[in-house]
Amino acid sequence: MSQDQITSLLQEDRLFYPPRDFQEQAHIRSLEQYRALYARSLEDPEGFWAEMASALHWFRRWDRVLQWDPPQAQWFLGGQTNLCYNCVDRHLQSWRRNKAALIWEGEPGEERVLTYQDLYREVSRFANVLRSLGVGKGDRVAIYMPLVPEAVVAMLACARIGAVHSVVFGGFSSEALRDRVNDAGARLIVTADGGWRRGRIVPLKDYVDEALRRGAPTVEHVVVLRRTHQEVSWEPGRDHWWDELMAAASASCPAEPLDSEHPLFILYTSGTTGKPKGVVHTTGGYMVYTATTARYVFDLREEDTYWCTADIGWITGHSYVVYGILANGATSLIYEGAPDWPDPGRFWSIVEKYRVSIFYTAPTAIRAFIRWGEAYPRRYDLSSLRLLGTVGEPINPEAWMWYYRVIGGGRCPIVDTWWQTETGGIMISPLPGATPLVPGSCTLPFFGIEADVVDREGRSLPPNTGGFLVIRRPWPGMMRTIYGDEARYRRQYWEEIPGLYFSGDGARRDERGYFWVMGRVDDVINTSGHRLGTMEIESALVSHAAVAEAAVVGRPDPVVGTAIVAFVVLRPGADPSPKLKEALREHVAQQIGPIARPQEIIFTDGLPKTRSGKIMRRLLRQLASGEERLGDMTTLESAEVIERLRAQMGSEEEE
Ligand code: WT7
Repeated sequence: MSQDQITSLLQEDRLFYPPRDFQEQAHIRSLEQYRALYARSLEDPEGFWAEMASALHWFRRWDRVLQWDPPQAQWFLGGQTNLCYNCVDRHLQSWRRNKAALIWEGEPGEERVLTYQDLYREVSRFANVLRSLGVGKGDRVAIYMPLVPEAVVAMLACARIGAVHSVVFGGFSSEALRDRVNDAGARLIVTADGGWRRGRIVPLKDYVDEALRRGAPTVEHVVVLRRTHQEVSWEPGRDHWWDELMAAASASCPAEPLDSEHPLFILYTSGTTGKPKGVVHTTGGYMVYTATTARYVFDLREEDTYWCTADIGWITGHSYVVYGILANGATSLIYEGAPDWPDPGRFWSIVEKYRVSIFYTAPTAIRAFIRWGEAYPRRYDLSSLRLLGTVGEPINPEAWMWYYRVIGGGRCPIVDTWWQTETGGIMISPLPGATPLVPGSCTLPFFGIEADVVDREGRSLPPNTGGFLVIRRPWPGMMRTIYGDEARYRRQYWEEIPGLYFSGDGARRDERGYFWVMGRVDDVINTSGHRLGTMEIESALVSHAAVAEAAVVGRPDPVVGTAIVAFVVLRPGADPSPKLKEALREHVAQQIGPIARPQEIIFTDGLPKTRSGKIMRRLLRQLASGEERLGDMTTLESAEVIERLRAQMGSEEEE
């Protein structure tokens, strides 16, 4: 077997068809209809995307749909549009003017609804505020805010005048903020005095002050929203209160016609090597791609109340809290705080209260709900839900089943959506009225997406052979470059496997043609000559009744090359005994084969995660190998987990 292939041992035969009533009302109602449209989108991509783009407003129609000078794509060349106009102004011409655009709930319990008309007024005002502080077309603006309506207003206001936003997640430190502000050369930071998280104030303004003290020479102004009302330090001339500026601003600010390829935003994503990458997305293509995917993947209907739990600091928040959703004139719900505040029923209380119909979250959240227990969701009426979604990591089949049964009541399709910050929008996903679901598979590519699983030379691999997940042609939502580092863009995404977009993920396709993402290729374990994706072993562990969550890593081993080490979080009540360790090793051997039997199982009460909830296997790998110094930890959510594990592993060795 070639070294490029990844052995896949996971078997999953459960199949779930779209419910009849869902199917009858869906935009795409059968697999045949999907296949016909998919075939057309690949045979005539320019015709297909022109048709999708025509559903949106353009100040000037494009001359050319696609100009492809690999690896540089330009979409809707010669066209002029404005994404803010499409998300806001366009809806004022119909009855939607008084429809809820945003429904917000603060962590302490406040509620606000902004209609499209309200949003129009706030966004226009804030666009004028930005202009009054000297921000113009092409200038970069950093947004470092809690999840409140003003954060969305700030993003849309930038888009309205052609300023380039860089949203920095409010959970990042002042150091991470400073690095991102400096890399983008931001002139202005929009922030708040603080945000609420688990009943405590996150002092965002203090962090901004700290970042500026450490040195951010391009920043001229800081606009501060009053949210938590504690005292903050103030630098007159530089710092301005949001409400004071807004009170003085006019509510008239026509949206600026922008070239289709005008940059819309920079969003930083952590690379495997320390330095964060500023992924650049542009206006027209991103707009068309997010609007189209949102409509079909979430099967958006006029009466839906859609809730994506992501923060706007992530690409999911950009594409499927704000742009793709508002471009469709839908209602987007946002919630400021933690899922377990004041108790783990919070999300379900929100679903019940607002009658949420579409709910989109991450596997890390689902695993937390499983650990907290079924009693919480059972206390609430979740019957308004009609569709569920997940994104961010592969979802273990057993977690999928739990989500389907307990949250979806066995009646809601689940869209397992595979995509990346770099892809701008959803790439591989079921269409909920058309695609039969298999737990753990993100199923089939979206229209226009030629996805494949290949070896290092770019040759397609046969079914059930694991390899590299690539995209064979450009799509409108693709990243255009890494800000300030075109060479890295080329090298990392287009040269690893020459001529193809390489995602960095390992995957396989089954005999149905369904995709199974096996995780990042950096996480693959080579044991006794087999390359195993960590995902499958983790899924086998999670399918055991005692296990809530698992992370599998490799440790150098003189005999097998790399030994499999599993970090396991147990469900409440399970006894962390040597007997259970043995039972779990045996369980994996039975589920997927003796080759995958972990050499070692380590019980832990938590796993190290990034702030977006992804398990940081790199740190666990270093811990398991006994490395004294762990690499970059700036994206780590909580250092305590690592400290506890380190102490625990040290003492176990001495035993
Ligand atoms: C990486 C991208 C896309 C928004 C959130 C994450 C993993 C994402 C899935 C999925 C399996 C998934 C991949 C991908 N991933 N969705 N449905 N199944 N893996 O964005 O931080 O840019 O991360 O997340 O490894 O490459 P991101």
